[in-house]
Amino acid sequence: MKELKYIKEFFLINNSEQAGDEIFDLLKKIIPFEEGYIFYVPPVKLKYSYNAKAKTPQDIEGNCLRGDLIYRTVKFGEIILKGENFTEKDEELFDLCTSIISDVIKNIEILDIINLHSKSLAKINGKLRKAEEIKTNFLSHVSHELRTPLNSILGFTELVGLAGELNGKQSEYINDIKIAGLRLLEMVNEILDMSKIEAGSMTLNLREFETETAVYEVLNTLKPLILNKNINLKTEIKNCTIKADYQKFQQILFNLLSNAIKYAKKEILIKLKQEDNFAVISVNDDGKGISEENYEKIFEKFEQLGESKNSSTGLGLTITKELVKMHNGEISVKSVPEETTFTVKIPINFPPSL
Ligand SMILES: Nc1ncnc2c1ncn2[C@@H]1O[C@H](COP(=O)(O)OP(=O)(O)OP(=O)(O)O)[C@@H](O)[C@H]1O
Ligand SMILES: [Mg+2]
Repeated sequence: MKELKYIKEFFLINNSEQAGDEIFDLLKKIIPFEEGYIFYVPPVKLKYSYNAKAKTPQDIEGNCLRGDLIYRTVKFGEIILKGENFTEKDEELFDLCTSIISDVIKNIEILDIINLHSKSLAKINGKLRKAEEIKTNFLSHVSHELRTPLNSILGFTELVGLAGELNGKQSEYINDIKIAGLRLLEMVNEILDMSKIEAGSMTLNLREFETETAVYEVLNTLKPLILNKNINLKTEIKNCTIKADYQKFQQILFNLLSNAIKYAKKEILIKLKQEDNFAVISVNDDGKGISEENYEKIFEKFEQLGESKNSSTGLGLTITKELVKMHNGEISVKSVPEETTFTVKIPINFPPSL
């Protein structure tokens, strides 16, 4: 026991790189062995070997004493002694030595290990940030490039009818092009918006407008989809004036309404009214509904429930929530089978005057 105390004191004042050799020199005085090794847990690549070339712990065969180096229940390394005739007493001493050596190495090495970890983490984080930046730039560039021709396709679907009368089949096909184009445009816009939100470059363009106008314009855009599904659309609209971002206000509505169209069986009800200093909009559909345990999940990025994965990104509600938040508003959902209502409250005067 006297020797163990001595070892501890000795190590504590020796914090040099030769610590490995010194550990083994001292161990030699207590336990007879031929080769010695200290391996650290990856990614730390440090290792010491004594009297032989260092290998991996698995390569060391034959009669060995093996002990884990542990710091606060976390294994950070392993010490191995190779020899011939270890006795029970040697094993006991080795166990004791291992715990002391853990403690000592922790003092002299752990700082190196932490440094190594934080250096490599900083490097990885730097690379991730760069990759994120490239991804955002790429997405916003590609989305822009896609939007222009898409808008032109949609524009021409409007013009075809003006160029001459279309027969029934022709109108039907044009309507199909319009629906597919709208869907594609929605997806492109979502990707562009999400990349802007993530890059923190989404800004509000505030102006005063009539909420009624904004709602009817959105309904008009989505008309082909509503007609296509033969949905009975009901509205209870009480106009109010609001100061907000017109395009984003419409987008909130567009996202909620396009979801409602996707899931409604027969009917959608849209309500708009002013309540205190808020414009309150609700979109109600008679579809399959959302169970309460999924109320939060549906607002997360790329989350889609059940079989709704076709030709959509799962970003709609995430973006909607962000846009509402940017206006200091609130969004909530309530659903029972055959009745789902999304409610949005937006302050009519943003930013609220003090
Ligand atoms: N009115 C609704 N009725 C039932 N489920 C809904 C309704 N609105 C949203 N959901 C569920 O929430 C999920 C997420 O909606 P979100 O609008 O974010 O994505 P999406 O509509 O699937 O795709 P995207 O809007 O990006 O095209 C949907 O996939 C669907 O499972
Ligand atoms: Mg959606």
